[in-house]
Amino acid sequence: MPKDEAQGGDEGAWWRGAVIYEVYPRSFQDGDGDGIGDLKGLLRRLEHVAALGVDAVWIAPFYASPMLDFGYDVADHCAVDPCFGTLADFDRVVARAHALGLRVLIDQVWSHTSHRHPWFLDSAANPGGPRRDWYVWADPRPDGTPPNNWQSVFGGPAWRWDPRRRQYYLHHFLTAQPALNLRHEAVLAELERIGRFWLERGVDGVRLDAADFLCHDDSLADNPPRPPPGGVMPVKPFGLQEHRHDMMHPDTGAVLARLRALLDAYPGTAAVAELSSEGDPFARAGRYTTGGAGVHLAYSLRLAKGGFGAAEMAARIAHIAACAPDGGYCWSFSNHDVERVASRWGDGGAAFAKLAMALLLCQQGAAIVYQGEELGLPQAEVPFERLRDPYGINFWPQFKGRDGARTPMPWRAGAAHAGFSDAEPWLPVPEAHRRRAVDAQEADPDSVLNAWRRFLRWRRRHPALRHGSTENVAADGALLRFERAAPGERLLCLFNCGAATLRLPARGRPLAGHGFAARLEGETLVLPAFAAAFAAIPPAAADTPAPSGAARPAAPTPN
Ligand code: BGC
Repeated sequence: MPKDEAQGGDEGAWWRGAVIYEVYPRSFQDGDGDGIGDLKGLLRRLEHVAALGVDAVWIAPFYASPMLDFGYDVADHCAVDPCFGTLADFDRVVARAHALGLRVLIDQVWSHTSHRHPWFLDSAANPGGPRRDWYVWADPRPDGTPPNNWQSVFGGPAWRWDPRRRQYYLHHFLTAQPALNLRHEAVLAELERIGRFWLERGVDGVRLDAADFLCHDDSLADNPPRPPPGGVMPVKPFGLQEHRHDMMHPDTGAVLARLRALLDAYPGTAAVAELSSEGDPFARAGRYTTGGAGVHLAYSLRLAKGGFGAAEMAARIAHIAACAPDGGYCWSFSNHDVERVASRWGDGGAAFAKLAMALLLCQQGAAIVYQGEELGLPQAEVPFERLRDPYGINFWPQFKGRDGARTPMPWRAGAAHAGFSDAEPWLPVPEAHRRRAVDAQEADPDSVLNAWRRFLRWRRRHPALRHGSTENVAADGALLRFERAAPGERLLCLFNCGAATLRLPARGRPLAGHGFAARLEGETLVLPAFAAAFAAIPPAAADTPAPSGAARPAAPTPN
């Protein structure tokens, strides 16, 4: 942990309102010329992360793994996979990050391991051995079919037959990712030992993978069917069930409490939990981050999987503020699992990318920015022959998987493979990304990259944006507005979510320095397409009603 901050109670903790930069190491920077990003490469590029002005870097898995799910199938939790380097490389990354004032978060995958993990090999081979119940084993039904109807996220039944045990084992993702039995004390103790191994090496916290899949109903009851949304058969059969028994079990809280107790022994550390899109993940995020016994922060893929528009955003913002009023929600529009925001919600252009940035960074709670989001990268089109993600290969072409969000970072517009590697990269670098390379954007004061740097600097000067509450959320046509309030500061935040200029009555004292070009014409604020504007308003304005015609945010509907 950087030494500059004495940690007292939670109030001033670094993770409150923090901006966390996600590095997907395989695609960040190749340091040894094999076409795969690694820790040596990350070490070289940490200055880019620090120069952005974020608080922390989250490094996605770099552990020993057969790489069937690119590191989320862990075969040795305490070893660095040779393709990423060595433990000494990792220690250098942590030391350099700390010297640059960045906290370091790493993934912890508690829900499952690789099928090549020695625990699983032992559990499968020794039904009488001490690890026999470390995974979720079940007998077949009398006709040989799997114990129940549960589906895996990545397609097909959530059970795989193991001829050694002559039983099925549970897997929520790939068949190569058997689910751990987190009701087994020895499993939890071992995961805690692993956590301590990394905390002792100086990491400042963890991102807990797949938290909704930690616990299931031990009765193994069938899930009830869920009628196809709108009567249309979904691409993924996972969508045809109500996930009542296989995930999101109430016992999850007890597992999160174990993780919290572990982190509490290392003051200044924090956990961010990843939640699925099922049910109301925002309500769960609120529950899991309130009261000091769960994780510090939580995010859900639901946000990124939803649509975009002023009314939709207003509904989400109001709902999340109501669910997590203490700022436990961690906003995330892009990551290694979802289509990039610039082209998912926008047209792939710079103006929309800047709007999405401002929207992300003005929300209550923490935020995650995914590598390349600061460049406004659009989703890459990866041809089928180059696909690597089994999830995409399974569902091609209706769902193209996650490779389009995982292509290499473009560093130098004029270099081979945009400066990511000297060798052919594991995924191709799209031409459209080359033009948006870091060096090209550094030279352009109006670039998306410089907009991020400017906006993050400006955000630091406004405590209401980092620590304030969210109030008076409303949408009116393409206009989204809300207020952020902290003691001594109340900000009116306005966003034009549409492609046409908006004219509205000006209010408050306009703020400068954030980089957006709104202008005043007398008493009228002119807000160009995809622009944002900010004004300081007196605290007394807190109760001012929303402008007439403004839509009250409705409760979000599940996707
Ligand atoms: C990770 C994915 C991974 C899955 C299974 C997720 O939540 O972010 O990349 O495939 O967990 O481990």
